[in-house]
Amino acid sequence: MAEQHAELHFEGKVYKIPVVEGTENEKALDIGKLRAQSGLITLDYGYKNTGATTSAITFLDGEKGILRYRGYSIEELAEHSSFLETAYLIIYGELPTKDEYSQFVGDITKHTMVHEEVKSILDGFPSKAHPMGVLSSLIGALTAFYPNSLDPNRSGEEVNTSIIRILAKLPTLAAWTYKNEKGQPVNYPDNSLDYCSNFLKMMYAVPTDKYEPDALLSDALNKLLILHADHEQNCSTSTVRIVGSSHASLYSSVSAGVSALWGPLHGGANQAVIEMLEAIKEDGGNLAKWIAKAKDKNDPFRMMGFGHRVYKNFDPRAKIIKKAADNVLEKLGVHDPVLDIAKQLEEVALKDEYFVSRSLYPNVDFYSGIIYRALGIPTQMFTVMFAMGRLPGWIAQWKEMRENNEPIGRPRQVYTGRTQRSFVKMSDR
Ligand code: CMC
Repeated sequence: MAEQHAELHFEGKVYKIPVVEGTENEKALDIGKLRAQSGLITLDYGYKNTGATTSAITFLDGEKGILRYRGYSIEELAEHSSFLETAYLIIYGELPTKDEYSQFVGDITKHTMVHEEVKSILDGFPSKAHPMGVLSSLIGALTAFYPNSLDPNRSGEEVNTSIIRILAKLPTLAAWTYKNEKGQPVNYPDNSLDYCSNFLKMMYAVPTDKYEPDALLSDALNKLLILHADHEQNCSTSTVRIVGSSHASLYSSVSAGVSALWGPLHGGANQAVIEMLEAIKEDGGNLAKWIAKAKDKNDPFRMMGFGHRVYKNFDPRAKIIKKAADNVLEKLGVHDPVLDIAKQLEEVALKDEYFVSRSLYPNVDFYSGIIYRALGIPTQMFTVMFAMGRLPGWIAQWKEMRENNEPIGRPRQVYTGRTQRSFVKMSDR
């Protein structure tokens, strides 16, 4: 096929801009040489219309509500796969054979312990520290225990060991941040359990009681983690890629990703949604008042869990999670009044002109918090759960960026400050 290009007419000259096409027929203008040829750069606040890379990991069609990892639909993966199998797929590109899978799970299981001195770092945090801040610090601290991980240019085998280590240790670190917040002694990993059951045990086991893993809770967690496992070039993933592009280590890149995820406009929304629904309940369930607040441009309040940068029809993850929330609550026999408020709010908002005209639909975070609550996970840990789910995506995107030998990320700007002026000594001001 002949190479396509677009033409830019500017100040009497014509510039040819090559068009890059993806496997799902998405087209992009490659403006890499535009500045050198014309002196022009592009300006796009929040990168709303800018592709930062080409990627073979996740395909997302926001208009049609499609999400696929390596070509497999999120619906099929949530139904049939396990989190570790999906992680393997996302990181290495193909579903594992039986042998590859047992090797992968075995390797991860071997590395679940963290160095005992991590506990002294954890002890240094105040017990009320937010678990996301603690998690980000502990992941960064892994570089101190594994200095070989600092150089991402080492052999593929060594980089892979870093990948296995972080996948194995994140549940341990995450559970320990919770124990720190509770002021309880930490639990060590139980390698006889699967990934999710082991995490739940480290969260909930109390040394004085016998702990029985619960298949229902593990399955629900497994599904949630799969649904969060990658989401192409979102805020935290772009952070991981850009930090990694300076050849910073995997652990420091992921630690930065955790910080980016924390904000309420991104992963932190799951905590913010529950806090909002509880506030609405406390306020007597006056939905009209809260909807009006969300619409009021003079009020900074936003309807948390609504809207998405790329989904302008529906968020396919939210659909699956809503159904899963109903299942989990029914099986556990829990009646959560906050779920009633969520459903009413969704119904009212979806008929409201403000939300309809802006394509604001419930996103993945609108219902995930309700399942986390039913699983007994405290609100402050919700975004940590998101981070555990997103880890394979961050790893795969970091690995892809390194393997493609991508250049350091360094956007340009249009300077709007003062032009040159002479310095005035303090005595003359
Ligand atoms: N409540 C009220 N108004 C909203 C909301 C909301 N949740 N989201 C967007 N809008 C309005 C916004 O004010 C703007 O209105 P106008 O055109 O009149 O100025 C219009 O909708 C477009 O919004 P935007 O801020 O330009 O859209 P964006 O793509 O920059 O932001 C978003 C996307 C997710 C940050 C935003 O919808 C939001 O803040 N939602 C609430 C936070 C949330 O639930 N985040 C979780 C996202 S899903 C998890 C993840 O993948 O991160």
